[in-house]
Amino acid sequence: MSRFEPSGPLRGSLRPPSDKSISHRAALIAAMGEGETEISDYLDAADTRSTLAAIEAVGASLDIWDPGMGGLVVKVHGVGLRGAGPATIDVGNAGTLLRLLPGWLAGQVGERWILDGDESIRRRPVDRIAVPLREMGARLSAREDRLPPLEIEGAPLHGITYEMPIASGQVKSCLLFAGLLAEQETRVIEPLPSRDHTERMLAAAGAPIERDGNAVVVHPLPRLEPGPIAVPADISSAAFFIVAALLVEGSEVLLHDVGVNPTRTGLLTILERMGAEIEHEQNFETGGDPAAVLRICSAPLQATEVGGAEIPLAIDELPLVALAACFAEGTTTIRDAEELRRKESDRIETVTAALNALGGKVEPTADGLVIEGTGGLRGGTIDSHGDHRIAMLGAVAGLASKEGVEVRGMDAAAVSYPGFERDLGSLLGG
Ligand code: S3P
Repeated sequence: MSRFEPSGPLRGSLRPPSDKSISHRAALIAAMGEGETEISDYLDAADTRSTLAAIEAVGASLDIWDPGMGGLVVKVHGVGLRGAGPATIDVGNAGTLLRLLPGWLAGQVGERWILDGDESIRRRPVDRIAVPLREMGARLSAREDRLPPLEIEGAPLHGITYEMPIASGQVKSCLLFAGLLAEQETRVIEPLPSRDHTERMLAAAGAPIERDGNAVVVHPLPRLEPGPIAVPADISSAAFFIVAALLVEGSEVLLHDVGVNPTRTGLLTILERMGAEIEHEQNFETGGDPAAVLRICSAPLQATEVGGAEIPLAIDELPLVALAACFAEGTTTIRDAEELRRKESDRIETVTAALNALGGKVEPTADGLVIEGTGGLRGGTIDSHGDHRIAMLGAVAGLASKEGVEVRGMDAAAVSYPGFERDLGSLLGG
């Protein structure tokens, strides 16, 4: 249990930890590559350690060192697109690994894998990838046909046109990986744009991949040749400091090297609409993804409506939108976000429970939340339910609350951000 007291202003600067989505992809693409790929600023957290263990299990060899600058340097000696060996893989808590890896494995003829993970992973659906992969010729079986453990038997794949029923960067990426091994082209149609790191990184590795309206089209290729990959800081981790600085009066925080790929910056657009001014101090490209220094100062907030195309662009930050909405004037509605129920926890329920336990006025709906701004939160005790983003949400709520917040299960933060409490302390002068 950790306690977060009401704080004075947040001041100073830091580089949040490296991007989790890009780190997972970097490791997988490097493992698919020929020869050695160097990844710098690889996220050192539980989820992305699971991905390193997974690529090692299928035969990649790794040389990992920690230069003490936050991220890891990982040299991956890849097994090649068609060279993954059989294994039983523990994905831990990593939903992204659970959904992306099978796309690559499904096309390796004659091999067999089992993917399983922790208690939360066992509740995360895999039918969203199994259904289209089977259409491509893959052989997969899952518990109750939709939950891990997931068993994959490699088989020859053929390209398909698949219209995704949900906007999911994970499902899209899985099918693009499978498409690299399939006969003919694979066309993935998205209902709404979702994060596009896989497309950018595969293109940078020489894969024939292009966007055609709302579809992404990939063609098979004999070999993938990724160059060095540098991972920017994760906007989803920066988000906790962005919202903390907005809510605690007198704060001013600079966040360095933050990935600002437009498919990830929905939170910034939403907060700006609520009254925040977030300065992008400078822009530069890190790998295939743009990054910037962000300056955030505290500001009074107004309620807003969030839904439609904005949801996939802010999916992991919606709990923080709900927290900010407790402090805003008016009633905020989040809709079209049923996917929140299928994250590390059912985030419609866990966000409602957490914020209401602290004195908030939050109503869950089938596909979102209605949050009445009350000008602040009293404080109290919340449970992370093993969900890293709920644990860190509780910490930020504590700083901005009147009486402080106790977080049960704060250790869950290590899934994406092991140094979170230390970094937060550094902005509080601790
Ligand atoms: C991710 C995509 C999102 C996000 C998850 C990471 C990714 O999931 O919630 O944390 O790296 O592709 P969906 O694409 O399933 O919504």
